Amino acid sequence: MQRNYLVMAAVAVMTFGVGFAVAQNAPKPPSNDWLLEATDDTERFRRLQQYLRGFDQPMWEIGDRWRGIHDALMRDNFELAVYHWDKIKTTIENGYLKRPARRANSDKVLINSGVHAQVKTAFETRDRAKAWAGFTTARTACMECHDAEKVPFMNNQAMFRELNAPAK
Ligand code: HEC
Repeated sequence: MQRNYLVMAAVAVMTFGVGFAVAQNAPKPPSNDWLLEATDDTERFRRLQQYLRGFDQPMWEIGDRWRGIHDALMRDNFELAVYHWDKIKTTIENGYLKRPARRANSDKVLINSGVHAQVKTAFETRDRAKAWAGFTTARTACMECHDAEKVPFMNNQAMFRELNAPAK
């Protein structure tokens, strides 16, 4: 009887041991901690840099805000137009932080040329005709930069072709 217990105990210990070893060698389940689990800060920054993309993502946002400006002006919401226009400036500056080669044309066409300020003033007049004239000035600047940066195909889309000042 006692021997039986001993055999059972031995089998139990062996089973546990094998199970433990298998668990130890099992591959780790995938984790969501893509930054916390990076081997070091260099790898962490590399991942962040990759994730934050280049100039395309800020431009994507700018396109959306541009449609927002058109919509705002259609309903005489000049404050909203100014709001989006200011965010567009911030977004371009953040864009060339990541892609410094895009800075020269951004400055030339929009930021340093006074075009950004001029369009902002036009929206702030709350005068429909002046605000829409500002819209057209801004649109020209967007399209000029796409030409200068050798992505002229960007200009052949609804937000530039169809989103115009309404006919009087
Ligand atoms: C530096 C000059 C520059 C200015 C100023 C500029 N763009 Fe762009 N835009 C670019 C470049 C370069 C790309 C292509 C980015 C890429 O290839 O990564 C682009 C791409 C885009 C895209 C496509 C983004 C996507 O991936 O979906 C949109 C939309 C866009 N621009 C809208 C605008 C609007 C609206 C304005 C004006 C308010 C504007 N851009 C002003 C240079 C500019």
